[in-house]
Amino acid sequence: MQGAAGKSDPTYGARHIAIIMDGNGRWAKRKHLPRALGHKKGVEAVRNIVRVAGEMGMEAMTLYAFSSENWSRPEEEISDLMGLLRQYIQSDIDEFVKNGVRLKVIGNYRALDSDIVTMIDNAIRKTAGNDKMTLAVALNYGAQDEMRRAVQHVASRVKQGELEPEAIGLEHIAGALDTVDLPPLDLLIRTSGELRLSNFLLWQAAYSELYFTDTLWPDFDKAELEKALQSFGERERRFGGR
Ligand code: FPP
Repeated sequence: MQGAAGKSDPTYGARHIAIIMDGNGRWAKRKHLPRALGHKKGVEAVRNIVRVAGEMGMEAMTLYAFSSENWSRPEEEISDLMGLLRQYIQSDIDEFVKNGVRLKVIGNYRALDSDIVTMIDNAIRKTAGNDKMTLAVALNYGAQDEMRRAVQHVASRVKQGELEPEAIGLEHIAGALDTVDLPPLDLLIRTSGELRLSNFLLWQAAYSELYFTDTLWPDFDKAELEKALQSFGERERRFGGR
């Protein structure tokens, strides 16, 4: 039980949380607003939650911003999301620097528009020395694709004679995943009432606690994060033991 930690530690001992930020579209629909405004509100929720998690002393947070499956959305929506991403990096980089946030991207982000790739690379470089919290943004990310790339990496080590096939251990696979430099995933949150992992952090979630809420992402605030962490704090984690 991690319950006791919560009194003094707002993270309840969670070092790394991840969020599937779902429900921007429904939030907009309920308010009779254009979908794009739902995403815009979603970015405001991102900004707030990153600040709150940093203040709580969270070590790492991974956010699912754009999946490798999201390319099947209408072109206009993809362009809205990419526009918001450009704006977000540009406007928040100074705050990352000020607050000691290190930016990291997981997923095959090099397939995005070249100006975004440059912007991301610059932001990663500028925040590389920050050590208060790592913000990992999943872009063009899919867990199965991440595992495929990891297998490819391990296979090439085998081919080069660095590793015998029989010697391949879990650590070789975990070490080739995009999350290699992040703490183990403690808590995975999904908003908006959907009960799926949607190809997000499948390897890393092996022993994570899962938390689902009906709250739509644009409404996910500090109180909602506190509720999720409190629930995490009440769980008994056994990691397959008794
Ligand atoms: C889900 O809403 C949201 C996404 C497509 C991903 C989250 C994106 C953002 C919060 C904005 C961009 C983020 C950054 C970091 C700049 P949905 O459209 O699937 O909602 P619906 O299921 O209600 O239609």
